[in-house]
Amino acid sequence: MKFKVFDSYEELSAYSAELVAGVIREKEDAVLGLATGSSPLGLYEELIKLYEDGNLDFSRIRSINLDEYVGLDGTHDQSYRYFMDINFFNHINIDKKNTFVPNGIAEDLEKGAKEYDELIESLGGVDVQVLGIGPNGHIGFNEPAEQLNLNTHIAELTEETIKANARFFASEKDVPTRAVTMGVGPIMKARKVILIASGENKAWAVKSLVDDLISTTIPATLLKVHPDVTVLLDKAAASLL
Ligand code: GLP
Repeated sequence: MKFKVFDSYEELSAYSAELVAGVIREKEDAVLGLATGSSPLGLYEELIKLYEDGNLDFSRIRSINLDEYVGLDGTHDQSYRYFMDINFFNHINIDKKNTFVPNGIAEDLEKGAKEYDELIESLGGVDVQVLGIGPNGHIGFNEPAEQLNLNTHIAELTEETIKANARFFASEKDVPTRAVTMGVGPIMKARKVILIASGENKAWAVKSLVDDLISTTIPATLLKVHPDVTVLLDKAAASLL
């Protein structure tokens, strides 16, 4: 894993956008593995700027998102589909038909999960996977556990994750307790991974990523065996290193 520490979140974001832009310039129909949350917001802003300046073309790009809350449809303002549309897709020339987010309201969630894996397979896997990291070391919604799923599955969110994400909802009891998430399989098979962590509340998870052995109880540590991971940190996230 390569680590880079930046003085500011803005610099981190600009750098992350150049990494993603590099993949797009090399492969005009690249598959972007995308994440939600506050961590990649700056990345999306910078990619939008590159597009607006005529420096990036998304017309043939495909995207596949990591996760979605169970029970929220795409019009709910806390759904991850809505997040992606508002913060990124609506501002670039990507064809929405080529943007995929798991379906959190499928009648048969298990079937939907299986179909999501088939979709990832049919796209030829992920060229560049963008990841945030949970304060407990989760990636996507692959929460700390004795065992991790390779495939897309329905995850029960931990207390800690529900608390961490409550800031986006009216109250903690409004946070969905389950999510559909990509498993660790497609993340580990992605040709390139960019993990973004900013803020002091990520410092513990980042320290574990660096210092701890590989363990399913800190899912991000699996990335230690991936051949092409770049971890981008601001000073606060790197403060325990
Ligand atoms: C969420 C998402 C993750 C995200 C993480 C960190 O629960 N499922 O994909 O990376 O938590 O979020 P944030 O970037 O807002 O801190």
